[in-house]
Amino acid sequence: MMDTVLAISYLVASITFIGGLKLLGSPKTARTGNLLAAVGMTVAIIATLVLYHDEQGQHLGNIPLIIAALVIGTGIGWFMAMRVQMTSMPQMVSFFNGMGGACAGFISVLEYKHLLAASAHTSDAMLAGAVHTPNTWHLVAIVAGLLIGSVSFSGSIIAFLKLEDKLGDIRYRGQMIVNNLILLAACAVGVVLVVEYGYVGMEHVAFLAALALIFGVVFVLPIGGADMPVVISLLNSFTGVAAACGGFVYDNMVMLIGGILVGSAGTLLTVVMCKAMNRSLTNVLFSSFGGATASGSSKAATGSVKQLTATDAAVLMAYAQRVVIVPGYGLAVAQAQHVCHNLEHELEARGVSVSYAVHPVAGRMPGHMNVLLAEADVSYDKLVEMEEINPLFKQTDVALVVGANDVVNPAAKTDPSSPIYGMPILDVEDAKNVIVMKRSMKAGYAGIENELFYRPNTSMLFGDAKATMTALVNEVKAL
Ligand code: TAP
Repeated sequence: MMDTVLAISYLVASITFIGGLKLLGSPKTARTGNLLAAVGMTVAIIATLVLYHDEQGQHLGNIPLIIAALVIGTGIGWFMAMRVQMTSMPQMVSFFNGMGGACAGFISVLEYKHLLAASAHTSDAMLAGAVHTPNTWHLVAIVAGLLIGSVSFSGSIIAFLKLEDKLGDIRYRGQMIVNNLILLAACAVGVVLVVEYGYVGMEHVAFLAALALIFGVVFVLPIGGADMPVVISLLNSFTGVAAACGGFVYDNMVMLIGGILVGSAGTLLTVVMCKAMNRSLTNVLFSSFGGATASGSSKAATGSVKQLTATDAAVLMAYAQRVVIVPGYGLAVAQAQHVCHNLEHELEARGVSVSYAVHPVAGRMPGHMNVLLAEADVSYDKLVEMEEINPLFKQTDVALVVGANDVVNPAAKTDPSSPIYGMPILDVEDAKNVIVMKRSMKAGYAGIENELFYRPNTSMLFGDAKATMTALVNEVKAL
């Protein structure tokens, strides 16, 4: 009876994970999706604590310790999540992901130890051929969980430190060879732990953990700071796979399904991000694009730029029929989302139609612009995706580019030598007027010039996005 209730609870939890993931697909339903999956996880945890028992009918031990760990972990997670700034979200995700990897690694260490303890692995027993041989696939899952979980843990912590600007990119000649040798050595020790089971001990497990931890560090060290979202997503999928290994070891359906979902969602997200940036995963992992030393090449943009004042910009927009706001990373840096929403209100009050053009990789993390604009209560139906908005730019009077650069760079379409060539972009240059708000002529993430700024229908409105946007709102109000 207890087994049936436990299985049903796991089924319910698994359904909530899948449903939650589906709901996370849209900003409108993302909060509900998150909550639904969290409820499912709570159900799974409570059901395990109350109903789980082993073949001998023994319930879980160490309940007070488990509850204490749950309370402390929940407290720390809650505290961090409540305090985190939107721009620090990738760091937090990375840190939490690292903890998941560490858990998977610890599970493997403990389970290998349990197996050894259960085995007759004394030399006498071995001589007598009495070495207890566990299921090979269980051993493989334990070893894979340790290897992948440890890489994910140390890699995520390095990613966290890099995003916090506590660590720079470290590159040297022959780095990839060294990294691959470490990985190879770790895999070799893993194979020994499986094949030579009963003849090797916990020191080999510790050796594997050490190699995997070192690999996680050296693997992330050379990757450019701005490529971190892709790496974090990849490490996230590693944690999922490591957790799924744990689910396999414990024959625990909910852990297995949860791990597989995280693993596959992380992998898909990694692929989608690379595609939207028009780069291969190997290029992200093994090149310095976007890092501190990035020096993207692009046909140098020539000519002079036109500047306009906030008053001119306000007049252009206030008397327009259709304005499209194009948010980018600079909007997040300036935290100008609320005042941007005010501008939208002011313009709409004057009968101007306003919408937002959202590029899939604008900003520095997936859905960055959606989250930012949602924070400012911008209505979801005003957010238009790239494919939908691009044909509409021709009928747009003003495209207001706020702190976006690469995602509106025409070089992606016209310059085969550009590092962003082939990346789909927002066709703002088709609008009758383009106003670009940024602080200087400096490049964006890809480190390349933007020929858009020199086009005859483009005018630059220099300054911090928040200050300039505030001035724009005041000017529109005064008209
Ligand atoms: P970027 O190309 O990085 O350009 C942002 C611009 O914002 C900069 O040129 C900067 O110019 C301006 N800016 C910065 N602070 C500002 C402030 N306080 N006020 C006004 N402007 C400010 O941004 P984007 O167009 O959003 O493109 C995103 C890039 O990041 C793409 O290349 C994408 O591939 C990459 N990327 C994205 C992701 C995800 S998942 N979103 C992940 C990894 C990489 P000034 O310094 O002159 O002000």
